[in-house]
Amino acid sequence: MINNKRFLQALKGKSTDKIPFWYMRQAGRYLPEYMERRKTAGSFLDLCYSPDFAVEVTLQPLRRYNMDAAILFSDILVVPQALGQHLEFRQGEGPVLTPVDTAEKINRLSMNGFHEHLAPVYETVNRLSKEIPETTSLIGFAGAPWTVATYMVQGHGSPDQAATRALAFQQEDDFQGLIDLLVKATSEYLLRQIEKGAEVIQIFDTWAGNLPDDQFRKWAIEPMKQIVDNLRQKHPDIPIIGFPRGAGCRYPEYISVTGVTAVSVDTTMPLEWVRDHIQPLCPVQGNLDPLLLVAGGDQMERRVLEILDCLSGGPFIFNLGHGIVPQTPPENVARLSKIIQEYQIK
Ligand code: CP3
Repeated sequence: MINNKRFLQALKGKSTDKIPFWYMRQAGRYLPEYMERRKTAGSFLDLCYSPDFAVEVTLQPLRRYNMDAAILFSDILVVPQALGQHLEFRQGEGPVLTPVDTAEKINRLSMNGFHEHLAPVYETVNRLSKEIPETTSLIGFAGAPWTVATYMVQGHGSPDQAATRALAFQQEDDFQGLIDLLVKATSEYLLRQIEKGAEVIQIFDTWAGNLPDDQFRKWAIEPMKQIVDNLRQKHPDIPIIGFPRGAGCRYPEYISVTGVTAVSVDTTMPLEWVRDHIQPLCPVQGNLDPLLLVAGGDQMERRVLEILDCLSGGPFIFNLGHGIVPQTPPENVARLSKIIQEYQIK
């Protein structure tokens, strides 16, 4: 069965008959059927904690576009919530958390009841592993400690993560305590997902790019290395994809130190540089601009072929450079998927 799965073959560095593909944020608001489900599910978090709904919305994009991988429907912020932090998603505002920005508040977080809180997510993974098509691989995921910490400390998203970068300098020991807790919680969370049937793990470090180089080593590379080691101790062959968005020329160091299986590369990475400096180290996933997927047309088609021509010579998985945005026309996703499926590897 495993041999049917192109995505797993590519992650092993093997050649495939076609280029495997999936899209970050492939489930969600650009799909009318998601919006329909969301009406009856209540809030976004209710959707994440209801296995019936979460399984259904995970499968929705596969029915339309037949991707090589399904990604568990959940959110990176369920982890801080399971550690006891208050979390809400407000309409048009994104996530809102009660900031954890002092030693005292950090110390109040705890793993008591952590797995009980996340039990519905584990059940969703288990059901998906039985329900996805046999050629499709199931991806489990979590946020990387740095990115999750940026939301925990500031209490919401921010363009520069200033509050968190400042705390990391001003109260380094306290911040280290928070990162250590997130390494432990995230490792345990992902181990459970693997035990319930996740075949691949992706770890999102959306805000890694804003860290200066020494801080990048400390808060993006080091915690990621620990999580990879923790997962591999129990599951030596589990493929792990890292997404240190904005890492730039630090991708090679990130790959060699953390030991990830593959990396997702963001939209800013020059294709030839990826081919020459990253692909020799590990399989690569990426990197169409999600806004070009909104624009569509010949312009999108040209760029998709450029990406495929440049990167299909090595182990490659087609993806976006960041997540699908809500205003994306579903027909453009159909067009993109068809181009990839029809592409002849040279
Ligand atoms: O389809 C999939 O990729 C699986 C599900 C998934 C979601 N979030 C669902 C979601 C995944 C993998 C994520 C990851 C995630 N969540 C990240 C890392 C990847 C990235 O995009 O950078 C981050 C930073 C978050 C935190 C988060 N969740 C924010 C900032 C927001 C608000 C912004 C927005 O897009 O609305 C969310 C909400 C969210 N997560 C939605 C979905 C489908 C929208 C919620 C809704 O339906 O209203």
